[in-house]
Amino acid sequence: MGNSRKRIFITGIAGFIGFHLAQSLQKRGDVVVGCDNFNAYYDPALKRERARLLSEKNIPVIECDISDQAALETLVQEHETTHLVHLAAQAGVRYSITHPEKYQETNSNGFFHILEVLRHHPHIKCTFASSSSVYGLNKKIPFAESDPTDQPANFYGATKKSNELMAYSYHHLYGIAITGLRFFTVYGPWGRPDMAYFSFAKAIEEGKPIRLFNQGNMQRDFTYIDDIVSGIVSAIDLEASFEIFNLGNNKPEELKKMVYLIEKFLGKKAQVELLPMQPGEIQITYADICKAQEQLSFSPKTSLEDGLEQFLHWYSSMFVSK
Ligand SMILES: NC(=O)c1ccc[n+]([C@@H]2O[C@H](COP(=O)([O-])OP(=O)(O)OC[C@H]3O[C@@H](n4cnc5c(N)ncnc54)[C@H](O)[C@@H]3O)[C@@H](O)[C@H]2O)c1
Repeated sequence: MGNSRKRIFITGIAGFIGFHLAQSLQKRGDVVVGCDNFNAYYDPALKRERARLLSEKNIPVIECDISDQAALETLVQEHETTHLVHLAAQAGVRYSITHPEKYQETNSNGFFHILEVLRHHPHIKCTFASSSSVYGLNKKIPFAESDPTDQPANFYGATKKSNELMAYSYHHLYGIAITGLRFFTVYGPWGRPDMAYFSFAKAIEEGKPIRLFNQGNMQRDFTYIDDIVSGIVSAIDLEASFEIFNLGNNKPEELKKMVYLIEKFLGKKAQVELLPMQPGEIQITYADICKAQEQLSFSPKTSLEDGLEQFLHWYSSMFVSK
């Protein structure tokens, strides 16, 4: 099971996580292909550059929108796909407050198309990206998979929760094997410019102010990209009929600590604006990872210090003029 060569199709392959996952799977011998629509939620040039690097490694990246179900189905068939990893989504909490329609379109309708492809090809095993945002207003920490997830604090979380429910019904009705992974604040080289660690690094480097909500009293369970990728790979290999797993670091860190580490690395002081809590935000994310430890041998290894250093090395090499 685990070691046989798989034929894997990744949606959202030119995204941050897809880019890293594709390379890791190819390295161990799987045949990897993927699609992306290169939308402009953040600078598409970064997505194009990731896609170029993947193509150089003989990982084809096909421009296709998951809303084009017929095209997606043809691609999946042509590749003789055995495993599908669905990462394409409209990500980001803050943007979901002002643009809920994008989340409905890509995360809800888009996910329906993925399920339909799986219904037509039920031998394909699927792993998809959910999010820690499903925990919403859940007060109990750490967040466990068995905790209630019926009070999402934003529409992004609501669409991810609905994906889990839609997936279960397709599993129940049509026997498809599908696993949802609740990622917790993933960061690292080639990361997303809309995320705090990235936008803070840019602002601090350029001497511009950064804004910390809830007067800076926020904690995130920052999870390094290599740790997330190893969790996804284990979930692909598990081939569970239906499961939901947390993939987080199990160690929440203050946002202020992240700012301090960036300042230290760049040798520049941040100009901090402290602001009240924003609608849709949650104060802390904290993953209980017992289930992933047991069933996926998931064991995150990267500290925030080491992971941020990796990110900042990459960031400086790409964006900071010498
Ligand atoms: N990075 C995180 O911290 C984090 C946390 C929780 C969940 N997630 C989820 O993990 C997945 C990957 O996230 P990421 O950080 O790599 O984000 P990303 O935005 O870098 O990657 C998503 C990719 O999907 C593509 N895409 C979007 N809509 C599409 C469509 N309709 N058709 C085809 N491609 C489309 C985008 O162009 C992008 O390249 C997403 O589902 C996201 O919601 C990420």
